[in-house]
Amino acid sequence: MSSFDVAVIGGGPGGYIAAIRAAQLGMQVACIDEATGADGKPALGGTCTNVGCIPSKALLQSSENYEAAGHHFAEHGVRVKGLELDLAAMLRRKDKVVKGSNDGILYLFKKNKVTFLHGRGSFGSSPSEIRITGTENRTISARHVIIATGSNPRPLPGAAFDEKRILSNTGALAIGDVPKKLAVIGAGVIGLELGSVWRRLGADVTILEALPEFLGMADETIAKEAGKIFARQGLKMEFGVSVAGVSLSKKDVQVEYKDRDGAAKAIDADRLIVSIGRVPNTAGLNAEAVGIQFDRGMIAVDGDCRTGVPNVWAIGDVVRGPMLAHKAEEEGVAVAERIAGQKPHIDFNLVPSVIYTSPEIAWVGKTERQLKAEGIACRAGQFPFSANARARAMGASAGLVKFLAKEATDEILGVHIIGPFASELIAEAVVAMAFRGSSEDIGMICHAHPSLGEAMKDAALAVDQRALNI
Ligand code: FAD
Ligand code: NAI
Repeated sequence: MSSFDVAVIGGGPGGYIAAIRAAQLGMQVACIDEATGADGKPALGGTCTNVGCIPSKALLQSSENYEAAGHHFAEHGVRVKGLELDLAAMLRRKDKVVKGSNDGILYLFKKNKVTFLHGRGSFGSSPSEIRITGTENRTISARHVIIATGSNPRPLPGAAFDEKRILSNTGALAIGDVPKKLAVIGAGVIGLELGSVWRRLGADVTILEALPEFLGMADETIAKEAGKIFARQGLKMEFGVSVAGVSLSKKDVQVEYKDRDGAAKAIDADRLIVSIGRVPNTAGLNAEAVGIQFDRGMIAVDGDCRTGVPNVWAIGDVVRGPMLAHKAEEEGVAVAERIAGQKPHIDFNLVPSVIYTSPEIAWVGKTERQLKAEGIACRAGQFPFSANARARAMGASAGLVKFLAKEATDEILGVHIIGPFASELIAEAVVAMAFRGSSEDIGMICHAHPSLGEAMKDAALAVDQRALNI
């Protein structure tokens, strides 16, 4: 039986990054992943690469280009005649981007001398024994095991995914013809991102959300602004609904629900995307048999990702915390370093969140409501992109930046953005907060002109009512 210092089960962003970091630290590492691409070859990279972050961002970009060519180029004096959507080409491009990432991870494994084992891994007769079935059929032993098996979409009771008409993220990223009418259940991150993709490509999209308010996890100011912008874009959303049932007819899918006032309603759609969250994936791991404990379906871990079983760790979507690729990666690196005897630290308060709609939404730290609930007095500074020269030149002036700083010390406690390239702008806030910077610090730093970053500076200055451009 081959033996390794570390065996990682799962090759998503948590697992493959943990494997690479452990190998960098001089350990003998095996990574086991069962995913197979359409070409029958290994498809490393997990949910994120195959049916998550990467393909969704490819389609978001392509659909944005299509919408811009159809609706926004004219204001720049660029006339397009005979605009056509070639959806098959758009989907092929997305698949090519995914394949490039799959192969890139294989290359990184070779470069770092990580042994890749294509197949399904499960615990054998002890926590240090891993059985692999699939392309590889063998048993290995490892001093340390990292479980990084990710998550699966949560189905709606009574409406199993068929990926033809009732779609999870997997089917929603591969619809072969633009639905005339698309229903979406869940106005969370997937509902908004994939709802936006298909709306831009021409679908009439209605999103049904159980909660009474929009984007409850975001800062209220941002959620309000986002609600207005998405409504203007033609995304229909209903809140406080209760879905009564989903049924399939020959061609359609019907969703029956009660609206916020309790009135019975129904939507007939060509397709339905169900995006109501994800559940940890632990099926077939044989984890209970070796003594691993669970907490509400997740693998129970401490703050350092240790399970209760010595030398067995778990990271990413299969454990507590936000289901985000970069959070999984941070945990992967930290666990590899802990195994090597180092003492890394992750500040979970500084994990940024991004929703890749147009405009993008991004935030880090606390919302104003959270700070109020915690009794922390803060000052807020806001700056609209409509007063930022670069945003106006780009034709992307919707949205704003909001800084929240502690009243007593001016330390930045939260930054919230809705606007162009919010996903990139938020990095400045994360850096500042990691160094426990103040809003005055950002206000004193020279930002290039004209740049979107100047909106960060102006919002920081606005905390002290010193914004220069408004
Ligand atoms: P996963 O990526 O799920 O990887 C787990 C891997 O383990 C899979 O390859 C699976 O096949 C394999 N596996 C499972 N069990 C076994 C077993 N027993 N043996 C062998 N292999 C096994 N996050 C972001 O941060 N940014 C985004 O923009 C973003 N967009 C998303 C868009 C969509 C549509 C979705 C669905 C998710 C998105 N996410 C995004 C979330 C992100 O994909 C996950 O948080 C991330 O993939 C979790 O990484 P992971 O390594 O924990 O698990
Ligand atoms: P989510 O948790 O973001 O949103 C689910 C939504 O569905 C919630 O608003 C919830 O209130 C609603 N809901 C739940 N049950 C419902 C019901 N029966 N009827 C109506 N509404 C209901 O989950 P989502 O969008 O499925 O995404 C899963 C995970 O993937 C998220 O945790 C997210 O972190 C990750 N992801 C991250 C992305 C990013 O970082 N840009 C992009 C896409 C997904």
